[in-house]
Amino acid sequence: MSEISYSYIVEYIRALHTPPTSPVLQEIERLIAQGEEQWPIIKPEVADFFKVLLSLLQPAEILELGTAVGYSSILMSEFLKENGHITTIERFDYMYDLAVKNIEKAQLNETIKLLKGDAVNILPTLQTETYDIIFMDCAKGQYINFLPECIRLLKPNGLLITDNVLHKGTVARSRYLIERRQRTTHARLREYLWSITHSPELHSSVLPIGDGVALSYKIGGTQHDQTSI
Ligand SMILES: C[S@@+](CC[C@H](N)C(=O)[O-])C[C@H]1O[C@@H](n2cnc3c(N)ncnc32)[C@H](O)[C@@H]1O
Repeated sequence: MSEISYSYIVEYIRALHTPPTSPVLQEIERLIAQGEEQWPIIKPEVADFFKVLLSLLQPAEILELGTAVGYSSILMSEFLKENGHITTIERFDYMYDLAVKNIEKAQLNETIKLLKGDAVNILPTLQTETYDIIFMDCAKGQYINFLPECIRLLKPNGLLITDNVLHKGTVARSRYLIERRQRTTHARLREYLWSITHSPELHSSVLPIGDGVALSYKIGGTQHDQTSI
């Protein structure tokens, strides 16, 4: 089973997904649904969850690790505060070039800043406590290495959202029940989930939607200190 929840429930919830208003997002969804492309975008139920979460938070600055073709960046841009920005990092040329085209088509060049390269090299160059939201959606095995940088880059009271943390449900299984070649990812994701749920700097929750989504709130400041969240 490729889903982490019962497939009939996932199927039902996906049938409730309302198509995005952006023609660029509609086209990306259409090409994937018709099997013409296999781009790795967030699952429909995760996209719907983002719409609610971002409407509540109204972030000014978002950082994304893993742009792919720009689907989630374009989606999140609809919920930014006025004059807000998204900075998004992609290391794979093929994806980066498609994202550039999609962001241009959506006329979001001023709003979405695409950085080409590996997050491992780019993250240390970014300024401390800049982002209201960080969306980590890249190589799962690296999440644990990126965590200290994500905490540094988040504003106090900011939110780290991490996708694919349950890796098709395998993370919840004993390591002896999963294929040997997946054991490193399994161990690293478990270490990541343990770290975010036990960090004194975070309040975290792991949700079994999509491929598993973790929410981590950065403790700090008071409600009154909050800048944009
Ligand atoms: C799941 S996709 C991102 C999907 C995108 N967030 C969306 O929902 O539309 C993951 C992307 O992260 C990129 N990636 C993986 N590891 C990376 C790294 N260390 N630095 C930058 N990009 C990375 C991959 O090339 C891939 O395009």
